[in-house]
Order: sequence, then structure tokens, then C-alpha cells
Amino acid sequence: MRSLLTTQNLPLLLLLLQPRPPPVLMQYEDTAEERQEEFEDLRSELYSTGPTKPPTRKSFESEVIVDNYEPLEDLNYCDFGIMMKNVHTRLKCRKEHFFVQTKYEDLQKACSTRFVACKNGVKRCHKSKTITKAVYCNYTQGTRMPDCRYTSFYMRGYPIITCQWQDDIESLVPEYINNILEVPDK
Ligand SMILES: *[C@@H]1O[C@H](CO)[C@@H](O)[C@H](O)[C@H]1NC(C)=O
Repeated sequence: MRSLLTTQNLPLLLLLLQPRPPPVLMQYEDTAEERQEEFEDLRSELYSTGPTKPPTRKSFESEVIVDNYEPLEDLNYCDFGIMMKNVHTRLKCRKEHFFVQTKYEDLQKACSTRFVACKNGVKRCHKSKTITKAVYCNYTQGTRMPDCRYTSFYMRGYPIITCQWQDDIESLVPEYINNILEVPDK
């Protein structure tokens, strides 16, 4: 009887006698778990709000319009600019992005002009009348912020933009810079 019990309990005993993981490993596992939890929280927050909110003037300006003193001709401008201006789509890297050195009002004026062709040939863009310095950022690597990397192309020309209707102010507002129609440097 006694020996039978012992045999039955053997697996449990073996389990209890197993060495505990060293403290360093446990710490590491905890941290990884916590990080995963944080990530899930963030993800549910980002996805529970439904579709991405349309850009308001404030978010458009902070993501797209750059100050006069910024070094647009710097070959690494995009890596720096994308990070500083927090440009992403739900933390994922965007495939491309334009920074422009112009006034918001000049872009907004373009919204009330006739349609011109966008980069893909579809006629739903508008051309701004103001020649602008710009940087085109073309995605090269990374998946999420802050790992997004881009090639930077300095440009000068007319911004081609898409616009959208904003209900609360009942007007068309700039949505994205679609392209820069380049003009030769003077
Ligand atoms: C941007 O990158 C894509 C993919 O690498 C490439 O096909 C495209 O030609 C690039 N665009 C420009 C303007 O360099």
C-alpha cells in the first residue's frame, strides 16, 4: 500500500524537486510579459477607436508643414523628421511622406481649385499655386515607430494635394500631399 502511494505520487514529487528557474531568467520573463501586456493595451486602444480620424488642421500641420529653418536638404532629413513629427499610421511606418515648407492657408486655397491628376493618374487632386520647398520620404525599412527608415529627396515645386470635407467647419481642408510638381531651381 505504502509503496503504491509513493509510486503514484512520483510525478508530483519530481515536479516539486525540479530546480526553480534562476532569478535572472524569471526577471527576464516577467519583463517580456509586461511588455507584451503593454503592447496589447496599446493595440486595443489604437484599434478600438475605429477608422483613423481624418487629419485636422492641427495634425496636418504638425505632420506635414515644416519651419523655414529646418535643414530640408539634409540627406537624412526624413529619418529625423518622421520621428520628431511623429508621422505614422497607428504606429506602423508609412510607405511615403512629404514635408513641405509652406503656409497651411496656401494649401487650403488649392482645395477650391479644379481637379488635376494625382500621381496615380486619377483626377482627384488639387495643385497649389505656391512654389514650395519640400522633402519626399520614401520608405526603406522598419515596421513600427521608432524604427521607420526612409530615403530623403529634397524637392522644389508645386504641391499636389488631396482634400477632404470637414463637417464641423463646413469646408474642404488639405488631407495629404500626394506629390510635388517639380520646377527647376533658380
Ligand atoms: C520609392 O520606393 C519604391 C519601393 O522601393 C520604389 O518603387 C519607388 O520608385 C521609389 N520612389 C521614388 C520616387 O524614388
